[in-house]
Amino acid sequence: MATYFKFLALVIPMRILVLYYSRTGTTRAVAESVASSLSADLEEVTEPQSRKGLLGYLRSGFQAFRRIVVPLNPLVHEVAAYDLVVIGTPVWAGRLSSPVLSLVRLHGADMASVAWFCTCGGSGDKARDEILRELGAKVIATAVFREKDVKNGTAADGIATFAQSLGAV
Ligand SMILES: Cc1cc2nc3c(=O)[nH]c(=O)nc-3n(C[C@H](O)[C@H](O)[C@H](O)COP(=O)(O)O)c2cc1C
Repeated sequence: MATYFKFLALVIPMRILVLYYSRTGTTRAVAESVASSLSADLEEVTEPQSRKGLLGYLRSGFQAFRRIVVPLNPLVHEVAAYDLVVIGTPVWAGRLSSPVLSLVRLHGADMASVAWFCTCGGSGDKARDEILRELGAKVIATAVFREKDVKNGTAADGIATFAQSLGAV
């Protein structure tokens, strides 16, 4: 029987969903690359309210700093149907972006297993601590990518290694 289940695990591919929020496209670029490497489903987390311009920037920093949960548009994919959800977020004020904090508060309980990455200008350490506090042992892998490395292509190897490590879980 054990051999039968091992065989099933080999022939039935793991279902993976990549969910990301991106205000200016950097996190989107990483999410697309990870999803493509893993042949995973991909969905952008969206909100009813725009974050464009200076006002959007200031509101984003304030909401992340205060850990404010914001309204999101409904997800298209059912997170509970996936073996692994990969969550991508920009770092705002050292924290998870508020759409991603809202995502994990709304849907985290339905996620079986989570891998997380962020893009940031400087450090993603505090945001990593935050996702670990929010989702605990469900988080099986984390990665931090600098915005400038994503943009100039030097993050490509790290992104590929992160994706490959998830494919082997
Ligand atoms: C409101 C705001 C606050 C930010 N705060 C930080 C920060 O505290 N630390 C950091 O390293 N980067 C910070 N950043 C930079 C973003 O994390 C970085 O540009 C990220 O790659 C943007 O991702 P996106 O293009 O997917 O939106 C901040 C950006 C914004 C808009």
